[in-house]
Amino acid sequence: MIKTRWYKDAFVYQIYPRSFCDGNGDGIGDLRGIISKLDYLKDLGITAVWLSPCYKSPNDDNGYDISDYKDIMTEFGTLDDWKEMVEGMHGRGIRLIMDLVVNHTSDEHPWFVESKKGKDNPYRDYYFWRKGRGKDGKKPPNNWVSRFGGSAWEYDEASGEFYLHLFSKKQPDLNWDNPKVRAEVADIVKFWLDAGADGFRCDVITYISKVEGLPDGKLGGDNMFTHGPNIHKYLHELYQNVLSKYDCMTVGEAAGVTVEQALLYTGEEREELDTVFQFEHVEVNSILQVLPRKVGLKRTKGVFTKWQKGLYNKGWNSLYLENHDQPRCVSRYINDNPGMDNELRKKSAKMLATLIYFQQGTPYVYQGQEIGMTDIMFKDESDHVDVMAKNIFKLVKKYAPFLKGYAMKALQIRSRDNARTPMQWNAEKNAGFTPSSVEPWYRVNENHSYINVGEAQNDPDSVLNFFKRLIKIRLGNQIIIKGEYRELLPESRDVYAYERVLDGKKLLVVCNCKNKTLSVKLSDKNDPNANQKLILSNYDDAGACGCEMTLRPYESRVYEIN
Ligand code: GLC
Ligand code: CA
Repeated sequence: MIKTRWYKDAFVYQIYPRSFCDGNGDGIGDLRGIISKLDYLKDLGITAVWLSPCYKSPNDDNGYDISDYKDIMTEFGTLDDWKEMVEGMHGRGIRLIMDLVVNHTSDEHPWFVESKKGKDNPYRDYYFWRKGRGKDGKKPPNNWVSRFGGSAWEYDEASGEFYLHLFSKKQPDLNWDNPKVRAEVADIVKFWLDAGADGFRCDVITYISKVEGLPDGKLGGDNMFTHGPNIHKYLHELYQNVLSKYDCMTVGEAAGVTVEQALLYTGEEREELDTVFQFEHVEVNSILQVLPRKVGLKRTKGVFTKWQKGLYNKGWNSLYLENHDQPRCVSRYINDNPGMDNELRKKSAKMLATLIYFQQGTPYVYQGQEIGMTDIMFKDESDHVDVMAKNIFKLVKKYAPFLKGYAMKALQIRSRDNARTPMQWNAEKNAGFTPSSVEPWYRVNENHSYINVGEAQNDPDSVLNFFKRLIKIRLGNQIIIKGEYRELLPESRDVYAYERVLDGKKLLVVCNCKNKTLSVKLSDKNDPNANQKLILSNYDDAGACGCEMTLRPYESRVYEIN
């Protein structure tokens, strides 16, 4: 049996600080803005916050390029603001999960600045410096491709060597094989835990161990730098040296991870990470990571079922449909037209929440998802500000200008900027994110005129009020926390249905994932007279459950059955 830990009965809210709330009127979200919204978070009912990076950073990748791990980004505030924020959270029963970005630093971090000074510098070996190939040594040392496109190596004229960056060239990879680097990471982790943090979301943690000698690999080197040879040793070491001494949780970002690998990272007896984010249901299918995979319901259900069964009683799942790197879920899974019919948007946002959050695992909701925010329209290349999108346009310009139109189309549905538009607090100009007179750092979605927190608070039928009900039902519910998961109707291409079972009690979850009315026959054995209670639905007149039911467009229902 697996251990009881606080994160197994938590509901986590992800904040992307730059886009959440601007507290001082400079157009950029910040910590004082977060402090001003703590009552909102408490009222929503969430019990933990995952805060995307708030450390000192030149912002090449909005804080995922850190130049000082022990200080706060100037635009976001000060360490004192951070302390006030944590106290405000803890006082409201909300825990704080910080973002730990230690696969790489910023190229402006003092370690890299030193490292660049020359081959003999004591910090040289904090990073991967290698000679180039070819006669003039100007070809990259291997075939590894950056996650943002192009070679993962950058040439440095001064020393005639290249350094490795699996993300932007302003994000040089740290060399974890150097014990000094591992000691620095342990020190950073300890610093924030001592300051009051309750855990970490570990950024691209599956990349930290590289195959010795950095050989060419398949698919742009993927098999040489993901789940590398020493990764379990390094994570176990971090656990033993620091994490095990605190009542904290860790969740590792693990794109491409399989169930078998996830068990190695999260098996309790292994003492590495507590949980991971798997990516199979939000997968991309092109080598440039541009196009999200087409959503086939049957396949997606299969993915959920595989993970639910695969980790049951052995590991722990993370439940999410959105984050700061993904398109908005109503746009991705339902209708990519940002102007989609408002009633359908509301119905489907609730259905999607029902579909995911009654599974087993720790639930995460991304800022704005709780009011059903959508993607934004990109009319022009300059509408994209994310470093990944910009790199793609650069590559297209250089190698294949005729693909510009295709890139625009692909990025419409894929761009990370979709999730990074300012949080929509009200219908005013700038959506209450920043004062109306100020230019926000990034475009506000025009649909804030009717999709916003203020509107949602006044509408009993809003997505927001639905989330509040759902969170209340979920927290402390032993069937949801511990119950076994059984998928029903696995062959259906329209309906996702499953039950959760614990000690003879059941929850039945039925979701019509299509925009049409359907008749559903769950099972011949389903006893229509059993003691059934409807506990949540996105239609207010949903009927009692029997062996057959008629479901309206995007209708979702949850029943408690004794
Ligand atoms: C993770 C983050 C992403 C960032 C990248 C590099 O994937 O979620 O936003 O760009 O790591 O740190
Ligand atoms: Ca600000």
